[in-house]
Amino acid sequence: MDIFVDTADLDEIKEAESWGILDGVTTNPSLIKKAASSEQGEMNLEEHISEILRTVDGPVSLEVTAVDQQDMVDEAETLYDKFNEINDNVVVKIPVNTSMGKNDDDFEGVKAIKSLSETGIPVNCTLVMKPNQAIMAAKAGAEYVSPFLGRIDDHIRDQMGLKRGEDYPKGTYYPSEMVERVRNYHIQRRISERSPEDIIYKDEESMELFYWGNDDGVLSGVDMVWSIKNILDNYTFDTKIIAASIRTARQVRQCAEIGVEISTLPFSVIEDMMSHHKTSEGMKAFDDDVIPEYRSLLRD
Ligand code: G3P
Repeated sequence: MDIFVDTADLDEIKEAESWGILDGVTTNPSLIKKAASSEQGEMNLEEHISEILRTVDGPVSLEVTAVDQQDMVDEAETLYDKFNEINDNVVVKIPVNTSMGKNDDDFEGVKAIKSLSETGIPVNCTLVMKPNQAIMAAKAGAEYVSPFLGRIDDHIRDQMGLKRGEDYPKGTYYPSEMVERVRNYHIQRRISERSPEDIIYKDEESMELFYWGNDDGVLSGVDMVWSIKNILDNYTFDTKIIAASIRTARQVRQCAEIGVEISTLPFSVIEDMMSHHKTSEGMKAFDDDVIPEYRSLLRD
């Protein structure tokens, strides 16, 4: 699995690059804003982006800001023409659906992806929140699709009445397996008390259970990625998955188990992938046990 860092912070990118495990970078307008505010108005954005591109030899995603097909294509071409000559690694990020809830721009994203894929500009289709959107993006020719795991976990928890920040911190793993077991237990109990037909066709309260703890059958962000991976593998799409909006190292492990091609990670999650207190404890014990003869044997 390739590892990208999900940041526009140059210090983080350079540090991750120095570890020898970095395969690419993803940015978005929010991450650019965060990097700009941490530099307190000192940032030359064009130079900053150029430096990111020079630092990493793998793909670097830069997002458009427009919402109409032609404007997105124009911005994508501007980004590509301005920056791709630096290190030949620009990927343009296009939102799968730019409607912002108005339902009038629903297909501008896929139309832009289609146009750009025909001109050879690589596209990372972003803000993918369900497998059907990934199908559409792949059909339009996206080189990458970015499902947002953490946001789907947030969404499912929100529907269960749990608010991020109030009921759980952002970096908390969402135990969908446990939620599913609880849900199944209640469904089974009702089915054993009544006939399945009553549950499925008549009992509104029980039907609510089918919709509780999932998003149209998707049980979690990881489950969404599993579904997308299965779908893309079923056909001849060349589209690769970039698992995004990842909040915990456990999600990264699960993405790797699924066979996801790429995970883009906040810097802190990459750090979490390396730490285990038993490793530190073991390291300390080895260090304490080194006899002088052994150390000098290695250092002479
Ligand atoms: O790559 C998408 C990512 O930046 C969004 O992350 O944690 O804000 O959902 P998050």
